[in-house]
Amino acid sequence: MPLVTTKEMFQKAYDGGYAIGAFNVNNMEIIQGITEAAKEVNAPLILQVSAGARKYANHTYLVKLVEAALIETDLPIALHLDHGDSFELCKSCIDGGFTSVMIDGSHHSFEENIELTKKVVEYAHERGVTVEGELGRLAGIEDDVNVSDEDASYTRPSEVEEFVTRTGVDSLAIAIGTSHGAYKFKPGQKPQLRFDILKEVEERLPNFPIVLHGASSVIPEFVEMINQNGGNMPDAIGIPEEMLREAAKSAVCKINIDSDLRLAMTGSIRKYMAENPAHFDPRQYLTPARAAIKDLVKKKIVNVLGCDGKA
Ligand code: G3H
Ligand code: 13P
Ligand code: ZN
Repeated sequence: MPLVTTKEMFQKAYDGGYAIGAFNVNNMEIIQGITEAAKEVNAPLILQVSAGARKYANHTYLVKLVEAALIETDLPIALHLDHGDSFELCKSCIDGGFTSVMIDGSHHSFEENIELTKKVVEYAHERGVTVEGELGRLAGIEDDVNVSDEDASYTRPSEVEEFVTRTGVDSLAIAIGTSHGAYKFKPGQKPQLRFDILKEVEERLPNFPIVLHGASSVIPEFVEMINQNGGNMPDAIGIPEEMLREAAKSAVCKINIDSDLRLAMTGSIRKYMAENPAHFDPRQYLTPARAAIKDLVKKKIVNVLGCDGKA
């Protein structure tokens, strides 16, 4: 099966009350772990590539690895640009075979965000590619840029209809209290999401797919694995799974997960190296790392997203 856009998978997810996992990919083992998990539970997938991933692994390598995953799994997979910050970057990914792009104009003014997003939508739609826009700004780390809590802002529901109508975007990322990275809440702070904002957005945008970024749960098992094997991560806190399950049942059709993959991979590599200090063959420590990603993604699909059996 060739790469698909997000159009059909979002419609099915919206109607079915589940969400698709959008997992960040940076190398072969991550792509294999994610896609093998999805294959086993027959789930559609979004594999997303950030500007940083593209810089690290190279556009062509990532596209070819994802094409290999398509051959191996025969699943509906969309290849998506995560946090595109310019028209040029989006164009380069569209021209280079991606089936979906995000243009993240959330750090611009409302009018500038509309102008930039509209330009990307026009280019993308002429070529059959879907586009995700963003309104509101998440805190946390994105491509080496640290957005402080003060600079973060919730999405204003009153702006969403105008944004969607004027830009023509296919989906909209909103800020309701999730954030990027492993430190989403301060120690002692109770994790909270603004479901009231999500509800109002849903009401204002009927039958329209919403995206949640910064949705890793920061699974304690992996933080402990890192800290018990030479790491030193301070109180890392993520989004509780029950909140994500609730979101997945709503208009939220895409849930972005990267940090949990990083923690699973790093935790298992640290553990392996601590237990086998003389080993130096990357295949030895990358085998449990890939297996940890596979296990994690399978659990996310079945226990949180609800998209198992929907491919
Ligand atoms: O939202 C950001 C994603 O986690 C990607 O992170 O830009 O470091 O690849 P990155
Ligand atoms: P996490 O850092 O919570 O995994 O979020 C990833 C993300 O939003 C990618 O765009
Ligand atoms: Zn993000």
